[in-house]
Amino acid sequence: MTVDLPDSVRIVEVAPRDGFQNTRAFIPTGRKVHIIENLLEAGLKEMQIGSFVSARAIPQMKDANDVVTTILSRHDADGLSVLVPNMNGARRAADAGIGEITYVISVTEPHNRANVKRGVAESFDELRGIIASPEFRFRRIKLDLATAFGCPFEGRTPQSLVLERVAAAREMGIRDICLCDTIGTATPKQTRDLLELLGGSCPEVTFRAHFHDTRGAGIANSLTAIDAGVRIIETSAAGIGGCPFAPGAAGNTATEDLVFVLDAMGVNTGIDLSKLIRAAKDLVRQIEDPGASGHLIHLDDDKLFPPGLYRAAGR
Ligand code: COA
Ligand code: ZN
Repeated sequence: MTVDLPDSVRIVEVAPRDGFQNTRAFIPTGRKVHIIENLLEAGLKEMQIGSFVSARAIPQMKDANDVVTTILSRHDADGLSVLVPNMNGARRAADAGIGEITYVISVTEPHNRANVKRGVAESFDELRGIIASPEFRFRRIKLDLATAFGCPFEGRTPQSLVLERVAAAREMGIRDICLCDTIGTATPKQTRDLLELLGGSCPEVTFRAHFHDTRGAGIANSLTAIDAGVRIIETSAAGIGGCPFAPGAAGNTATEDLVFVLDAMGVNTGIDLSKLIRAAKDLVRQIEDPGASGHLIHLDDDKLFPPGLYRAAGR
């Protein structure tokens, strides 16, 4: 694979949302805050720091308000966002004072029903209501399109269905869309084909990409997306993550694994890799049964940076 490299790529960290939501044992609020602060300290300024979802659906997120308000009281809010599934979540986000929300809709009908208990059309209607509501003053409303590549109930997701969802979002003014490989079945070819199609048909939309590493293709898909023009990739420290309502979903592309590859190829991410690896290792220690799919977290500290590695890579 040849990769056409940009000077820089933005990484959006999703461990505190996608990772924590898939962790069964409750992570105490203080520990969540500590993990988020370690990641911020490593330079991950763009981060999903939780989700305002039903505590019955995701008990792990019952303290999301405390996590968000604590982080906002101590850090610059720019780049921090929360995931919301409905109007109720948007209201909670507004009350918590966060300026940026990520609304989630699945491309495929059965996954949207399993995840947020409503049809895709109903989810779009609710998003339209959030956008139109004078009660909210969000700086940015982004859209996560789950199951954009594959669905646990319907198999491979047709490109035409992704296009349909993207068109519906554009029509209501959404300009920032993340294509999520929720169950980790995407391939580099599928990634390139979809992005070429979308890039050509809607140049005013900024596409992000989010690949689960369930089958080991996360880095390859992320690099392919970058090669196809994507400049924002979502990853999760230590590779924790998965959707509890998507059977078989597991492990995200690990942030530190992708940052290592980009760093070694001279692509700037603004992230301190040593601090990030320390934060990812610490995260795994703090969480019971994290389901981490990252590679670098398994290397001893003295094996992480062999002398001359970066010079050999042309830096
Ligand atoms: N945050 C917190 N509580 C919420 C909520 C939200 N965003 N939306 C609804 N609720 C509460 C309601 O207040 C109600 O509480 P009550 O029973 O004490 O009165 C209860 O949840 C049921 O409300 P309802 O509107 O009927 O929701 P539902 O049961 O149909 O569930 C969702 C719909 C969207 C709230 C739920 O499926 C959900 O949170 N899904 C998110 C799943 C997720 O996070 N997946 C991974 C990320 S992609
Ligand atoms: Zn995910």
